[in-house]
Amino acid sequence: MPAKRATETPTLLERRKAVLGPHSPLFYDEPLELVSGKGVWLKSAAGERYLDAYNNVPHVGHGHPKVATAIAQQMRKLAINTRYLNNRVVDYAEALLAEFHASLDRVAFVNSGSEANELAIRVARFHSGNTGIIMSDFSYHGTTLTLAQLTTGLTTSEKRGRNIRTIRIPDATGLNKTQAKQLLKDSLAEVDAAIASLQKAGFGVAATILDPLFSTEGLVVPPAGYIEGLVKRVHKAGGLYVADEVQSGFGRIGRLMWGHELFDAVPDIVTMGKPMGNGHPIGAAVMRADLLEPFGAANMYFNTFAGNPVSSAAGHAVLQVMEEEGLRARATELGAHLQTELTRELEGNPRIDGGARGDGLFAGMRFVDPETGKPDAATTKQVVEAMYKDHVLISRIGRDDNVLKVRPPLAVERKDIDLLIDKLTKVIRGLDA
Ligand SMILES: Cc1ncc(COP(=O)(O)O)c(C=O)c1O
Repeated sequence: MPAKRATETPTLLERRKAVLGPHSPLFYDEPLELVSGKGVWLKSAAGERYLDAYNNVPHVGHGHPKVATAIAQQMRKLAINTRYLNNRVVDYAEALLAEFHASLDRVAFVNSGSEANELAIRVARFHSGNTGIIMSDFSYHGTTLTLAQLTTGLTTSEKRGRNIRTIRIPDATGLNKTQAKQLLKDSLAEVDAAIASLQKAGFGVAATILDPLFSTEGLVVPPAGYIEGLVKRVHKAGGLYVADEVQSGFGRIGRLMWGHELFDAVPDIVTMGKPMGNGHPIGAAVMRADLLEPFGAANMYFNTFAGNPVSSAAGHAVLQVMEEEGLRARATELGAHLQTELTRELEGNPRIDGGARGDGLFAGMRFVDPETGKPDAATTKQVVEAMYKDHVLISRIGRDDNVLKVRPPLAVERKDIDLLIDKLTKVIRGLDA
């Protein structure tokens, strides 16, 4: 028998690759192994502390005791599928709906942002009798087959659905009034063309789905009147306006609870997920009764886990903590501080196009080549990696991968934001040192 070869113990990364495969994505050139988190601070397996300025799932802070206790207590008491009567889901639904425009008076719970958007599309198709969808040409709304066919902001092998039309979300950042007006006119003409094309092809318009902060797109800011004009046109064609609040919702903007409140157009359906359960998987589609009720009458929509007592306890605790700890007011104040200071500190830096962009506790900065003014993805990546080395977690977004993504949990404190500003400005200035 051949002698047994001495093998080295595989690393966690190798073991992960062996079971999850090499394509299950990981952040950073050197992946970070995390073991615990408290507030906005994370601890790595190597015993180092990292400031979390990226994650929006631990919305009220990593390991928040009130959310953790609510989950644990309810888990001990009752965790059951949702076809029994239980007060937790009703209590939570009432509290959640109180955060919306009065017309949005029904909620369907799901387990993720993808599921919420999938349901929204089903409802829109049912309501309108149409199948056409109008999408941003650089966006992401989830993992299901329907959503993969309309994904434009990352790689999918599924062909774009024949019922999908894409539009470029216009960016009015830095434009003067005349330029913004022209951009508005051209962009709404593009919407008209997309609608006409869907109608000509026989699909009609079922919906448009938009992330109100346009985060995948790179935090673009459309000219005033664009969203209102787009929604008006979609409504006229019989379709619905779905606001995807997976990234922009739950007070991320601080002064507003929802991103769609930035515009003078009430959505027909609002979808949400990520921050909703502070890490517990829960999502929802909030809509009007005249949409959910006919859909429910025609479809036996049953979802085993969605809105179960444990998830409801988690979601409700998040809303309560936001209120008790004044997290929206904090997001307003610290968001403004972050945007102002970053803009001030880096004013005139030729690598940055304009100042900080974004709203509330969602900030970005667009990196360009100082010589050509072209998007500079390599430098943006360099900054993200350098911040990681300096123990601060951020990321990047945008069609050119050149917009920093700074989006800390709402539990962040002023001293953390000041540390972040200090480190980020040093890293950026150090690029040319
Ligand atoms: C805007 C937006 N919508 C939907 C989703 C999908 O959510 P989930 O990953 O919970 O399915 C994401 C996830 O990144 C997202 O950013």
